[in-house]
Amino acid sequence: MNLIETKIQNLLTEFHQQLTSATTLEALEHVRVQFLGRNGQISEFVKDIKNFSPEDKKLWGGKFNQLKQESEQAFQDRLIILQQAHLQQLELAQKSFDVTSYVPNQARGSLHPCTLIVQKVENVFISMGYQIADGPELETDFYNFEALNIAPNHPARDMQDTFWVNLPGQLMRTQTSNVQIHTLQNQEPPVAILAPGRVYRSEATDASHDFVFKQFEGLLVGKDISMANLLATMQACLQAIFEKERLNIRVRPGFFPFVEPGVEIDMQCPFCEQGCSVCKRSCWIELCGAGLVHPNVLKAVGVDSQIYSGFAFGFGLTRLVMLYYGISDIRLLHSSKISFLEQF
Ligand code: PHE
Repeated sequence: MNLIETKIQNLLTEFHQQLTSATTLEALEHVRVQFLGRNGQISEFVKDIKNFSPEDKKLWGGKFNQLKQESEQAFQDRLIILQQAHLQQLELAQKSFDVTSYVPNQARGSLHPCTLIVQKVENVFISMGYQIADGPELETDFYNFEALNIAPNHPARDMQDTFWVNLPGQLMRTQTSNVQIHTLQNQEPPVAILAPGRVYRSEATDASHDFVFKQFEGLLVGKDISMANLLATMQACLQAIFEKERLNIRVRPGFFPFVEPGVEIDMQCPFCEQGCSVCKRSCWIELCGAGLVHPNVLKAVGVDSQIYSGFAFGFGLTRLVMLYYGISDIRLLHSSKISFLEQF
């Protein structure tokens, strides 16, 4: 075969090979420059015809034109295929665009340990059929003391040093027990509520005391409610919170004007069997005040104590959080210290 003919064949073969192996538009552009660009192999080859003799020009002119046209056409065909594939890809990417996969910030927040424990305890009581209740933090003397059987000059008032505010008869509640009164005023028995919330006491702060902390109030009023119901409820809720099959409780007499009889409940230390730093080597942890609702409280809200009885308990949520997570300084809980908060 003629040398020129061979060269044309080789050029075409190589060009076609390169075209098919170009799978992106960029790669294709590269092939175009390499063969059809101003200094491309095919362009250079075709240009050479001007040095041919007139006869040779006549002889090869057609072939050279054909080579140029064919290779340009082949390039255009390949270009269309790759452009279409590119469009399809874009369309597909848009169709499957997942708005939820966008992650704007890796530094995520977390729930406060108090929130985590509130959720845990609420879930336990909701599973026992309780409703979550709420009450005001700015309260009147009636709801915080009087209706709870704490008479104006009763020494029990001394137990809780109160923040009075500059409004007549208004104070920051010293206990969540005010929710007992609001609930019984608004709801006919039977009632079963759990009320988590902040309470305020005018005390000096140290690692285990703060002037604001959180409590849980529990109240159940119905027919034939006894101390046995209270103790079984307390034990069941503690076992669920600490995820223990068995956690004993211990009951001591306690005085709260709004319950009769009144008790203080301790729980078996969930962290040890022989005594540890949490339970101060005693194996018991003081947890809450509780008792059967005093008939005077029922009377204050118009509930007939001949028909209904109930129990109430109030335990320190803040204390529970500290116990649960082993937090030694109460003030960390509202310190907004990131290094503390990011551990939860
Ligand atoms: N309100 C009491 C306190 O703050 C706790 C308590 C609640 C006691 C309900 C008995 C019944 O100490």
